[in-house]
Amino acid sequence: MARNDEFIFALRNANPIDQVMSSYVQLKRTGRNYVCSCPFHSEKTPSCNVFMDTQSFYCFGCGAGGDVITFVMKIENLTFMEAVRELAQRAGMEVPDNNRDQDNGLAQRKQRIYEMNRIAANFYYTCLVKGDNKAGLKYFYDRKLTPQTIKKYGLGFAPDSWYSLSDLLRSKGFSDKEIADAWLGGLSSKSDKAYDMFRNRVMFPIVDLRGNIIGFGGRVLDDSKPKYLNTSATPVFDKGNNLFSMNFAKNSPLKRIILCEGYMDVIAVNQAGFENVVATLGTAITSGQARLISHYADEVIISYDSDAAGQNATRKAIQHFADVGVDTRILRMEGAKDPDEFIKKFGADRFRMLIDGSDDAMLFMLDRCENDIDISSPAGRTKLLNRLAEVLSGIQNPLELEVYTSRTAKKYDFPYDVLKAHVDNLSNKKRLSQNNKEWKNITTQTTLVRDDINPDAVKHKKEARAEETIISYLLRRSGEAASIAQDAPPDIFVTDFNRRVYSALLDKMSSSDNFSISLLADEFSVDEMGKITGMDARERELSITPQVFRDCIAVLRNSRSSNASSDGSISDDDLRNLFNSKKG
Ligand code: UTP
Ligand code: MN
Repeated sequence: MARNDEFIFALRNANPIDQVMSSYVQLKRTGRNYVCSCPFHSEKTPSCNVFMDTQSFYCFGCGAGGDVITFVMKIENLTFMEAVRELAQRAGMEVPDNNRDQDNGLAQRKQRIYEMNRIAANFYYTCLVKGDNKAGLKYFYDRKLTPQTIKKYGLGFAPDSWYSLSDLLRSKGFSDKEIADAWLGGLSSKSDKAYDMFRNRVMFPIVDLRGNIIGFGGRVLDDSKPKYLNTSATPVFDKGNNLFSMNFAKNSPLKRIILCEGYMDVIAVNQAGFENVVATLGTAITSGQARLISHYADEVIISYDSDAAGQNATRKAIQHFADVGVDTRILRMEGAKDPDEFIKKFGADRFRMLIDGSDDAMLFMLDRCENDIDISSPAGRTKLLNRLAEVLSGIQNPLELEVYTSRTAKKYDFPYDVLKAHVDNLSNKKRLSQNNKEWKNITTQTTLVRDDINPDAVKHKKEARAEETIISYLLRRSGEAASIAQDAPPDIFVTDFNRRVYSALLDKMSSSDNFSISLLADEFSVDEMGKITGMDARERELSITPQVFRDCIAVLRNSRSSNASSDGSISDDDLRNLFNSKKG
């Protein structure tokens, strides 16, 4: 066994997939295996499976799958070597040198950007607290931030200058191109020299769950535009899957997270004594962010601005959280437009009372139903009844449904039975279309993944199916690899991708008694690993007997021989027949 393979095998043994996965998702036991809600797409019923015998996972909903290394690559958005290092650290293992050498360019580029961001954050902080220009510090003090808070968040000030940060970075050996890559600078078209991107702004560093600085938000000191400038997409900054202050919130023992709109709201709420507060990064909340929150909390309190835009955003956020099964409550602020302003005006204690008394999402949605309706007119009442029934039909729990329906009926003086019948009718319809939709998702998504990765499979459906069955047969009989290879040599495979997988498996299995699919993880991409575990997952319920295995070989051999005789060329006899039939 090659030295690298030995290390990967040991790494995989030291990191059982169920243990690693359970620090990200809640696993539920089913016999020897586990299921969980898939962390890679939004779903309410768990369709992600963890198989203990092959130490692999596979989601029937979205086609994500692989071994423990693939899982870490995918969930932490890491390269192969980064994931290996992370798992080694977790297990207290030393990564051997020959593995370290394999580090690819992207991993190094990311390390360089983290380093530039760290230097930039230090520079901005020093400018804020020690610089001659006190405008930034005065700005934060005016907004009632304490020196402790400024330090905790590493807030800073970008001076009003074109080259102060970029000169510093250049002096430390970073190229103009690298500075632009990190979005800390822009490249001037004339000189190719990077200039500072953030100028005359107070700075908010954005820190990921592992403590890396991945980007910045910068706010103007006056009313000029744009008010906030945010790092754009870089190799380390994925704004749809990170949240501001999640690095602090994740440590809160409460299974509850307060979600605000802005950086300053988060910092003010945190300073008021709530560690469990986060904000999105200059965009509306994404399903990825809702999923991230669902790993740490059962309940989220949405504390968006009280203006119309904020309330619309609240409605959308409620849907994202419903998709991932997180309960939502809505903060209703009166007399202030956002949490930052509320705390400044009324104090932390009043804010705490607000949190404790926050409405649940259902009341928020129900109360909105009467907006723009004249509820004293018959037409208005009909419209109201329809809207209320629509909202109520979203409730899953029967007891809850009962409570809200009777409360609503009483409030608007509708007969309970009428409202209830309306709601039941709608929820039945929804259930039907939801089932259809989920089924459609499963079928279209699995075929999509299949097409991308093994394009030949579309033309050779039957053969691809036989190949996948053979691969699955082999996966659970690695001890018999030599004899399987004799019966089914790789060259009988019809599709290129499956042949590549099969050959790689035979190769790894023949070089040692120890086999794990982890040995493929550096050779195949994350998506390809998903496809490979998918083949196995689909065949798992069937028992593949030696007879089935032989049938599959026959399918491939037949396809070969029929292709050989009719490989597109036409015989003289055929031509004559064709010619004659045309004439006749
Ligand atoms: P708001 O305009 O509500 O600002 O934007 P705010 O958070 O209350 O800021 P202060 O109190 O005036 O300092 C909310 C969030 O939207 C994003 C930022 O993330 C901001 O925190 N935003 C806003 C931008 O990204 N760019 C902008 O120009 C404005
Ligand atoms: Mn504000």
